Amino acid sequence: MAKEPIRVLVTGAAGQIAYSLLFSVAKGDVFGPDQPVILHLLDIPPMMGVLEGVVMELMDCAFSLVREIIPTCDEQQAFNDIEAAFLVGAMPRKEGMERKDLLAANVKIFKSQGKALDQFAKKTVKVLVVGNPANTNAFICSKYAPSIPKENFSAMTRLDQNRAQSQIAFRLNVPANNVTNVIIWGNHSSTQFPDASHALVNVNGTIKKVGDCLNDDAYLKGEFITTVQKRGAAVIAARKLSSAMSAAKAACDHMRDWWNGTTEGQFVSMAVYSDGSYNVPADVMYSFPVQIGADRQWKIVQGLEINDFARQKMDLTGQELKQEKEDALSVCQD
Ligand code: NAD
Ligand code: LMR
Repeated sequence: MAKEPIRVLVTGAAGQIAYSLLFSVAKGDVFGPDQPVILHLLDIPPMMGVLEGVVMELMDCAFSLVREIIPTCDEQQAFNDIEAAFLVGAMPRKEGMERKDLLAANVKIFKSQGKALDQFAKKTVKVLVVGNPANTNAFICSKYAPSIPKENFSAMTRLDQNRAQSQIAFRLNVPANNVTNVIIWGNHSSTQFPDASHALVNVNGTIKKVGDCLNDDAYLKGEFITTVQKRGAAVIAARKLSSAMSAAKAACDHMRDWWNGTTEGQFVSMAVYSDGSYNVPADVMYSFPVQIGADRQWKIVQGLEINDFARQKMDLTGQELKQEKEDALSVCQD
């Protein structure tokens, strides 16, 4: 029997990330090749002309899964009855900025959209925040949507995970998806901790520890970490625009795994509501390794060994998240 269409919202729909993201969502790469979608596309009034062009192109792709396209600048219409939301719409940083420099400009968008989720979305909605500073925007969004479970909100660190996985895969000369269980801890910022100490690699069918194969502790504790931490800034310096194709791919990976579940024995990183696991701060959106079942509920992977090196890095990024949260709350009170 044919499935009923689901309503999927993409905000910032006239922007760069959405341009790639919409293609993959409409094609069935996220919700499945048999899941029809009704696309809700939100942007701000001055972008309605550009959005019209995006709608024309979506139509011209003749995707069989797209049942309806709703371009709008009205939050009620955008959030009405949605089951999944990609909250992309926000200002991107320019060269020389840190992502938290966007806080004052962007956090109010997520306060308003939190309220709209609370009022108009399905209570089961899965919300992925991409707009920066993503972790703290997701925290604010959830705070202003008290009728929706906190577990339904997440922020994207999958791009950092993909970057980390790819750095290792190129070094080991294996395909990217042969590398698994790399972890991103904490904030999607330059304090994040990309951790390869639990990572595995499939070498000609044998699963080995990445650390044993690379045999280069100095790299994994040095250049590997800084390359991933600074990758967003490096893309901006080169492109004069922030990452878009890779961000869209990561958003699809994140939502696909949330919707369909993770592979047995593997985990992925998502910034989720922290319960204080691993003694990191509670009540912030902290990126953890998670596993997801068929019920679409994520669980933080417990019991991983944390050495002194990791402890210090996990605490540092946790402190930054606590500070960002305080700053965001004071912006929201204005
Ligand atoms: P962009 O400027 O190309 O597009 C952003 C779009 O959002 C614009 O069309 C803009 O009009 C729209 N917008 C602004 N305010 C809005 C609102 N209130 N409601 C709906 N739409 C609104 O930017 P982009 O390159 O697509 O990046 C979007 C965001 O994603 C930025 O904040 C960027 O820093 C962030 N980002 C995050 C990650 C991540 O890994 N978490 C990766 C890349 C980019
Ligand atoms: C990224 O990681 O590429 C994005 O968050 C954009 C940025 O500002 O770095």
